[in-house]
Amino acid sequence: MSIAALLGAVRETLAALPEPAGSAVRARFHHGAETAVQPLWPEIVARHLPAALAAADPRHGLVPALAAAARSLRWVSYDAYPPHLIGPEFASGHAFASLIGEEDAPFLVDDFNLGFFLVAPEILYRDHRHLAPELYLPLTGPHGWRFNGRGGFAPLPAWEPVWNPPMRIHATQVGATPFLSLYAWTEHAMTPAEVVLTDG
Ligand SMILES: [Fe+2]
Repeated sequence: MSIAALLGAVRETLAALPEPAGSAVRARFHHGAETAVQPLWPEIVARHLPAALAAADPRHGLVPALAAAARSLRWVSYDAYPPHLIGPEFASGHAFASLIGEEDAPFLVDDFNLGFFLVAPEILYRDHRHLAPELYLPLTGPHGWRFNGRGGFAPLPAWEPVWNPPMRIHATQVGATPFLSLYAWTEHAMTPAEVVLTDG
């Protein structure tokens, strides 16, 4: 029940998502029947997800829905980055859980991935890019963002969507609260992301 309710809350959230992300994500949003997933609740999630959920505004229905379903999801780390390029702090300081995806997700689909992404406080998620067009909708904030590998980090508040077109370089400086975000990769979902070495 909690997974189905979370899917419903995601659907409502996407219905209210502004452009350009709104149309792009809704056009690709699809899911089949719910299947069993083996839940995984690693240390990084146990340590930071409760604080992130406590800091998120519960008037957004996504927050209580995620709180109710979080332990039913499979939280894993993203292993496509060489550890020395992404840095040990990020490598051991994040987790994500797919709600809809090609593997480890309660809803299995081709070439679309949507879920939740958690990063521990004060960690820099270094410049990176990927072929997948990407939505971030942070449930917490502010966190610092920069784009195209240049300049300083500008703070964005919670619930301010970030839409990354294919291969746009982006980096996130997590603030004092854990970074917790809804994310979606609308296509090219199995093409790995890559770290981009920049001056900053
Ligand atoms: Fe990204």
